[in-house]
Amino acid sequence: MDHVDALRSELLSAVTEAGDLAGLEGVRVAALGRKGRVTQLMKGLGTMSPEERKQAGAALNALKSEVASAIELRKAELSQADIDARLMAERVDVSLPARPEREGFIHPISQTIDEVVAIFGEMGFTVAEGPDIEDDWHNFTALNMPLEHPARQEHDTFYLPSAAEGERMVLRTHTSPVQIRTMQAEKPPIRIIVPGRAYRCDSDATHSPMFHQVEGLLVDRATHMGHLKGCLIEFCRTYFGVDDLPVRFRPSYFPFTEPSAEVDIGATREGGEFRIGHGDEWLEILGSGMVNPAVLENCGIDSTVYQGFAFGMGLERIAMLKYGIPDIRTFFESDLRWLRHFGFVPLDIPSLVTGTG
Ligand code: PHE
Repeated sequence: MDHVDALRSELLSAVTEAGDLAGLEGVRVAALGRKGRVTQLMKGLGTMSPEERKQAGAALNALKSEVASAIELRKAELSQADIDARLMAERVDVSLPARPEREGFIHPISQTIDEVVAIFGEMGFTVAEGPDIEDDWHNFTALNMPLEHPARQEHDTFYLPSAAEGERMVLRTHTSPVQIRTMQAEKPPIRIIVPGRAYRCDSDATHSPMFHQVEGLLVDRATHMGHLKGCLIEFCRTYFGVDDLPVRFRPSYFPFTEPSAEVDIGATREGGEFRIGHGDEWLEILGSGMVNPAVLENCGIDSTVYQGFAFGMGLERIAMLKYGIPDIRTFFESDLRWLRHFGFVPLDIPSLVTGTG
């Protein structure tokens, strides 16, 4: 049986010395494979006398299982080493700073959208979207502004060249058409906000031909003006971070709301600069009202059962007031010095817990 002992130590050291999984597989085939050395020896058992066979058979079986379990053990070690090596090679140090040559900032409009979404999100509003290129019906008619309505003139609309069939598409002049699209697609209760681009042919320090608005729409059975007021007062105080910010609702007119109100917030003018808070100035920041029953009916919602409120505000405007940005046109000049000054650090994600700016 000496040759079995010799083979045992030879095979076991070959197993230990195998440096990778492929090498180990080679050792296994050479020992236990169909033509492996242990297998060959076992084939020889048939030529032995019963007495010899009993002894040799037991020894070879022991050898076989010893070698097999040594291989399994080594295999587990090598697989673990394989994983360790890959983990080391593919390691990412998450504590490293962002690539210094690519320092980036969040644009104040993106930041403002995140802040507004965080605040209304906490009140249960979800974000909806619609197309920038609209048809006349969604942008005007369904919002209770038929063709001859004078309010259309105030919108300084950009018209696209008319299609062959005669319909002229427009760049939406406000985010209100998404009210229509949402009410057509969903059944009440509805509670959405719509941050997005709007377009009007106008440009000066407070007007840009492309700008951003956030629309709000809530439709339910017993919605009333008190809900509108509570929601918007809460928004203004949270967004501007002033707990007792004075908020004023001033009667106004929009074809798609009845009654309508514009919302002003309190401010002071100190040394020529506006400060949000108590004072004798008022700053208009948004338009709002109860959804006109005619608009509900245009969308197939029964206005004898449902009522709603809606609002719309300019995002550049509220960003300018909060962050002291003097000219709306600078938002879209892509001047890196401006972005470095007014931009936000990417990981400062606004929330009601960490603060909204
Ligand atoms: N769409 C209006 C605008 O652009 C704002 C508004 C929206 C007013 C919803 C009332 C209700 O001026």
